[in-house]
Parts: sequence; C-alpha cells; structure tokens
Amino acid sequence: MFSVVAGVPKIARVRIVSVVGARPQFVKLAPIAGAVAAAGHEHVIVHTGQHYDQDMSGVFFSGLGIPEPDEHLAVGSGGHGAQTGAMLAGLEPVLERYRPHWVLVYGDTNSTIAGALCAVKLHLPVAHLEAGLRSFNRRMPEEHNRVLTDHAADLLLAPTPQAVEHLEHEGLGARTVMVGDVMVDACLRARKTARAAGLTGAGLAVPGVDGTAPYLLATIHRAENTDDPKRLAAVLDALAALPLPVALLAHPRLRARAQEYGLELARGAVHPATPLPYAQMIAAIDGAAGVVTDSGGLQKEAYLLGRPCTTVRTETEWPETLVDGWNVLAEPTAYDFAALAARPAPETPVGAPYGDGKTAERVVRELAARVG
Ligand code: UD1
Repeated sequence: MFSVVAGVPKIARVRIVSVVGARPQFVKLAPIAGAVAAAGHEHVIVHTGQHYDQDMSGVFFSGLGIPEPDEHLAVGSGGHGAQTGAMLAGLEPVLERYRPHWVLVYGDTNSTIAGALCAVKLHLPVAHLEAGLRSFNRRMPEEHNRVLTDHAADLLLAPTPQAVEHLEHEGLGARTVMVGDVMVDACLRARKTARAAGLTGAGLAVPGVDGTAPYLLATIHRAENTDDPKRLAAVLDALAALPLPVALLAHPRLRARAQEYGLELARGAVHPATPLPYAQMIAAIDGAAGVVTDSGGLQKEAYLLGRPCTTVRTETEWPETLVDGWNVLAEPTAYDFAALAARPAPETPVGAPYGDGKTAERVVRELAARVG
C-alpha cells in the first residue's frame, strides 16, 4: 500500500467504493466525492437503486455534480428483506471485482446495512459514515440498520461527541474517530448558490415562497407516520390546520399511502409539491418561517440555516438541535401543535455542534491513513 519515493513513504492511490442508494446518501456522497477526487484517490460509486425516481435520485447526481455511478444495481422498491437481500446479491460480485481498500457506507438505510454486510463477508474493510447515532426506538428500521452497521464496520466515522459516547458505550470506542458531520459541508456549500438562485423554477405554487409572505416547509415520509391510516390522518389534519401556508414536499411513500387510505393532501393550509433538488431545497428552507418534518437531515439543515423546526416524532438522533428550542419534538394531536409549528425563531443563536464543514477532507485523510 505504501511506496517509497526518494526515501519518503508515500501513500499509494487508495481505492474507495461508496455504496449509496437513497436520497440523503447522495447529499452526503457529494462532498466525499469531491474530497476523494481532490486527494487523487480512486472512487467507485455503487448505486443500489433503492431510490430510482428522477426527483429522488437523478437530480441529486446532476445538481450536486456527483459523477455518474460506476455500477447501478437497479434493485428498486420492495419489502425490507427482499430489498436488502437483492442488494446483497447484487453487491457481492461488484465488491469482489473492485476489492477496494475501503467500502464506505453512509447513514442508516437498507443500502447502508447491505453494503456493510456484503463487505465484511468478503473480508473487505468497511467504514461507516455517520456512525453512532441512536434513536433508541427499536421500531424504526433505521435504528437496526445503524446499530448493526456500526458493529460490523472496521472504522466508525462519528459526527458528534454524543455519537462517540454511544459507540464507546457499546464497546466500539477503539474503532471510532470523530470527523464531524458531512452534511454541514454539503449544506454550507449549497447555501451560497441557493441564496443567489432562490426558488426560481422550483414550481412551488405556494403563497409566500417568492419571499412576499411567511410560509412553512414540510416533509413527512417515515413509516411510523405514513403507514398507519389513523396516524397519517392525524398528521395531515395537523398540517392542514397550520396558520401559515405549508409547502408539503411529498415523498412517493406519502402520496401512495394517502391515496391508499383515501386521505387528501391538498387541504386547508397544505399545498403539496414534488420533492425538490438539493439546492432548491436549501433555498426553500432558507426562505421558510419554519420547518415541520420527520426527516433527520431536514432537522439538521433547518438548524444549520437558523430556521425553527418542529419534528413529528417522539425522539431524534440529533439532540443538539433541541438546544434552546431550535427544534421541538411534537405529536400532531398536541393541543399546541399549530402554535409550536409557527413559533418564531429563538433569540439565542444556533451553535456549531456538527463541525466546520471540512468533514469530507477529514474522512478521506482518515481512510488513507489506515491503508496498509
Ligand atoms: C429510505 C430510508 C430512510 C430515509 C429515506 C429518505 C430505509 C429503511 N429507509 O426510506 O431512512 O430517510 O429513504 O428518503 O432504507 N419510492 C418511489 N420512488 C423512489 C423511491 C421510493 O416511488 O425513487 C416509494 C416506493 O413506493 C417505496 C417507498 O417509496 O416502496 C419507500 O421507499 P424506500 O426506499 O423503501 O424507503 P424510504 O421511505 O424512502
């Protein structure tokens, strides 16, 4: 792995295979792809095909300047077992062919656990980006994905001190290194262009998004909110009753379940729209009076952009966002849900618990330093 040039040990070109498949992973991949290229290492991108719609996948690659995937497994949707199993079967020959120095897996989706499991079975070193997050909610598929991935991986790239603590508590401290949160890299980079470009062409037919009046930005996609008709009805009722216009960027799962249960999305305050490409999403958050969501990434983006967030969940993997009330966990049936969701931003400034926006470079350095 090391060559000696004029007496100086020099790290050879490291081969990294990134396994991605779902929308938030493309966002995290963008700064990593840039940092790997800048360091002159080899990067192979494997897309499992978990997300396949143009607005769930394609626009992220083009919009974030990520190279086209080298391998596309086209696994598509399915039950958790069928989907994860198809990924495992598809990944094995690909990872065997490349035999990289590192397999890098991202976050907590079915693509994450499939990448990690496939790599360890082939005795390939695995690094987990965004290691150590815990909701302690064992009903969430993501919780199992992240715990199992952390225990399988050889290098745990943790975003926050609390994530490091979780890993130490589980006996994984020796494999852990804190690198910060790569989403800060992506978000801060996009903010500049997003502010300049605004929401022109985003096709959001919501009063106020042109900057003339306050609006709220909402997304709901988690199974625990969408897959029970009563719960979904309560969430949609709560959104409809909000005192400001709501741009509801509807994930395909939300649309499918609402249709299946005979629930109308476009009611009261709610203006449904298709999901946005990343830069426009950042512009939409930046322009909003507040955010209502069950997404992990959006909670953090709202925090980084200084917008109050109301999270329709009972716990969060990002407790740092709760400090000073920047983010609040709320049940849709709570009597004060509308007042919470439309609350003004706290007066205390947001902190910087997620790092300095240079996480991707740090990740690449950590990976390269451990080769050989
Ligand atoms: C997945 C992740 C979740 C992440 C989310 C981001 C898991 C277990 N969950 O959830 O952690 O927050 O991605 O969006 O991996 N669908 C389409 N087109 C697509 C993708 C999905 O129509 O391009 C529909 C299908 O009906 C599919 C459903 O959405 O069955 C759910 O998609 P899936 O990838 O299984 O999980 P997500 O809910 O997106």
